Amino acid sequence: MTAVTSSAGHLDAAELFSFLGSPEADGMNFLNEIALRFPDAISFAAGRPYDAFFSSTLVHRYLDTYIAHLMRESGDDEVHVRRTLLQYGRTKGIIHDLIAKALLVDEGIDVDPEAVVVTVGAQEALYLVLRALRGSDRDVVLGVSPGYLGFTGAAELAGIPVLPVPSAPEGIDVLELVRVIGRARAAGRHPRALYLNTDFANPTGRSLDRATRTRLLRVAEDERILLIEDNPYGIFDGGGEFVPTLKALDRTRSVIHLGSFAKSVFPGARVGYVVADQLVTIGGREQLLADQLAKLKSVLTVNTAPIGQAVIGGKLLENGLSMRAANKREIDVYQRNLRLVLDGLATRFPEDGRPAVTWNEPGGGFFLLLDVPFETSDEVLTRCARDHGVLWTPIHHFYGDGRPRRQLRLSFSHLSPAEIAEGLDRLAGFIRA
Ligand SMILES: Cc1ncc(COP(=O)(O)O)c(C=O)c1O
Repeated sequence: MTAVTSSAGHLDAAELFSFLGSPEADGMNFLNEIALRFPDAISFAAGRPYDAFFSSTLVHRYLDTYIAHLMRESGDDEVHVRRTLLQYGRTKGIIHDLIAKALLVDEGIDVDPEAVVVTVGAQEALYLVLRALRGSDRDVVLGVSPGYLGFTGAAELAGIPVLPVPSAPEGIDVLELVRVIGRARAAGRHPRALYLNTDFANPTGRSLDRATRTRLLRVAEDERILLIEDNPYGIFDGGGEFVPTLKALDRTRSVIHLGSFAKSVFPGARVGYVVADQLVTIGGREQLLADQLAKLKSVLTVNTAPIGQAVIGGKLLENGLSMRAANKREIDVYQRNLRLVLDGLATRFPEDGRPAVTWNEPGGGFFLLLDVPFETSDEVLTRCARDHGVLWTPIHHFYGDGRPRRQLRLSFSHLSPAEIAEGLDRLAGFIRA
């Protein structure tokens, strides 16, 4: 099409937000589109929750359960119940109290419900936090790299630069974190926070060991930076030793904790939350950071759809306010799939065989990393999808620098055993080819 720029209806990309022309924005599109282009391919790419247990009938039941709860709480005040569900509502949400209780039951996190903001997925929470922390052009945020694409995207949107800190088998390279903070300060920057996934990280599948959690909290305090803990995969573990989240260990209000019901209930509800119990001095008075986030939310999404919150509330109420209890069947599926992928890889790529392929062995979650003897790129993935009918994610998407590396992410959360077996055969065929 010939570019016409003389009318208001023809826009020049150079005059729009620069993110729109960036490789990261195109990367997201590419990953969505490739699955549509090759619908018969088996996908180890999508980080979706297992959906065979999803049921539209259950949505009605959860809603009814929550309405019955509201009726009880309000002394059968029907007008109150109707307004709570159907009117514009409290910016910080209506299920904050249930979420606070669930955090205590599942994670031993003890927070004031007033410090909880219910958001449109964890993604909105991430944006609100990053936008609030960006006070000046000097501010920067640190992120474990490779890391969740939505974090770097939200940081772009919030206008705060991201400095990468390398991931490590113990979760994060803490020494390098201290160096990155030092270098940033020496360059006149103001490091505000570190973003990370504590358990079964996206995309690495790695978890912070207990000692690293303690060290990280000490560094946060010494260096006066916040930790943004985003932990959507933590409950999908194998039932081994319980390692507390950073927020459960936090004694100095250093941790902002993000949560999502996308993996533990369903993404369609679009409900997540942020726990922000930090204190902010405003006009000589102390207020919660949660209340500052709510001010931003009130001009972004106004409030999180109460109907979606009610569905999640019903699910929580029916399961003793425990997402771990609510996900017993799902946890079994994820653990089974993880075992099938690990065993399947071991069969297809024996230890000293050729080609040399290695992988990490997470104890849970949705993802693992595969080291392969060639550089992965979008072109290589396209060839693999076309000729071998299997999808995965090239690792460069999680570094955000476009540099090809000899690694890819495998996601196994939503596949059946037959799909895993067939998908691994196809993947092995591709790698050998
Ligand atoms: C680490 C991480 N955080 C947040 C999200 C998004 O959560 P939500 O759907 O609640 O916005 C995802 C989804 O893939 C994720 O992997």
